[in-house]
Amino acid sequence: MRNPLADKVVDIKPSGIRKFFDVVSEMKDAISLGVGEPNFDTPWHIREEGIGSLQKGKTYYTSNAGLKELKTEICNYISRTQNIQYDAITEVLVTVGGSEAIDMGLRAMINPGDEVLIPQPSYVSYEPCAILAGAKPVIINLKAENEFRLTAQELEEAITEKTKILILPFPNNPTGAIMERSDLEAIREVILKHDIYVMSDEIYSELTYKGKHVSIASLPGMQERTILINGFSKAYAMTGWRLGYACGPKNIIGQMTKIHQFAIMCAPTTSQYAAVEALKNGDPDVEMMRNEYNQRRRFLMNAFREMKLECFEPYGAFYVFPCIKEFGMTSDEFATRFLEEEKVAAVPGTAFGDCGEGFLRISYAYSLERLKEAMERMARFVNKLREEQK
Ligand SMILES: Cc1ncc(COP(=O)(O)O)c(C=O)c1O
Repeated sequence: MRNPLADKVVDIKPSGIRKFFDVVSEMKDAISLGVGEPNFDTPWHIREEGIGSLQKGKTYYTSNAGLKELKTEICNYISRTQNIQYDAITEVLVTVGGSEAIDMGLRAMINPGDEVLIPQPSYVSYEPCAILAGAKPVIINLKAENEFRLTAQELEEAITEKTKILILPFPNNPTGAIMERSDLEAIREVILKHDIYVMSDEIYSELTYKGKHVSIASLPGMQERTILINGFSKAYAMTGWRLGYACGPKNIIGQMTKIHQFAIMCAPTTSQYAAVEALKNGDPDVEMMRNEYNQRRRFLMNAFREMKLECFEPYGAFYVFPCIKEFGMTSDEFATRFLEEEKVAAVPGTAFGDCGEGFLRISYAYSLERLKEAMERMARFVNKLREEQK
C-alpha cells in the first residue's frame, strides 16, 4: 500500500506538554502544575448568555467572520484598552480560539520558503503551524538575562531578505515575560526598516501584573502590518468555548476569512453570544481573577526565594519559569524525577524550544492550596537534590 501520510505532518513532533499529564491522571495524590488553563469556571452571567441563546433557538451558523454584534464589541474593547480603531466589518475575524487565528494568519500570508521568526521559549503551536503553512521557521533564542524579552539586536540579527513575519508572543507562555512600551518601540524600528509583518499573540493581554499591556499595533505605523490575535480562553476562563479573534488589515483578514469559511464555516454560535456578554460586562470578573493570579504569583516567587531557586520575576500570563541548572540535569530529567519522587507534574522548559533547557514551567492557574502543597514538595525535592550533590 502507498504511504497515506504527508511527510511534513509526520515530521512534526507531538507537543511535549501532554506527555506528563497522561501519567498524572493515573497517579494517586499527584499534583499537576502543568496545564495552561484557568481553574475558574466561566463567570455565571457569561454562561447564562450562552444558555439563553440556546433557549431562544439561536442554533444556526453565524456569518463566516462572526456575529456583527460580537465584532463590534471586539472593536470597542480594543479601542478602549489600546486606543486602536478597527472596522468591525472588514478588519475582524472571529475564530475557534486564538489557535485557529494563528493557523489562518500564517496560511493566509506565507508563500513557500518565506521565513517566520519565532522567539522561543514560546507557545507550542507557532512552529508546526508555520511549517504546515509552507514557511521556514527561524528560531530566535530569548535569554534569561534579558528576562526573556525580545531585543532589537536579536531581531535584527535574525532577519534575512526572506523574512516575512515576526511572531510576537507576549505576555509569554511559558516564561511569563512581558514587553513594555520601550521594548516594543525598539523592535518597531527594526520591523519598519525591514518591511516585515507581525503576528502579535496577545491572548494573555488581560493578565499582566505591572502596568497595562501595550499592543505593538498601537505604535505608529504598526497597525497596518500587524495581525493582532486574542481570545476568550484565558481572560474570561472560557477555554472550552473555543473562541478567539484576529484583527488586522482588511486585505489579510479578508483572505483569512476565505480559508476560515472553507475550513471552519464559523466559530461556535453559542460561544459568540456568550462572548458578547463577556466583553460588555466581564471586566469585574477579569479583575477578580487577575488579583487571584497575582497573589499566587507572589506566593510562588516567595517560595522560590526561600528555596534559593533562581527565577526572574514574571509579570504576565500565569506561569513562572524557574531555573534548575544548578542540579546538573536536563529539564526533562528534573521533571521526570519530580513527578516520580514527589508526584508533582511541571513541564520541562524544552517543551517550548531548545533554549528552554535548564528551566521548568510551572502554571499558577491552580488554587493557592494546591500551590502551597506543591511548593512544600518542591522544597523537599530541591533539598534532596542538593544533598545528593554534596
Ligand atoms: C500563547 C498562547 N497562544 C494561544 C493559545 C491558544 O488558546 P486558545 O486557542 O484557547 O484561544 C494558548 C493556549 O494555551 C497560548 O498559551
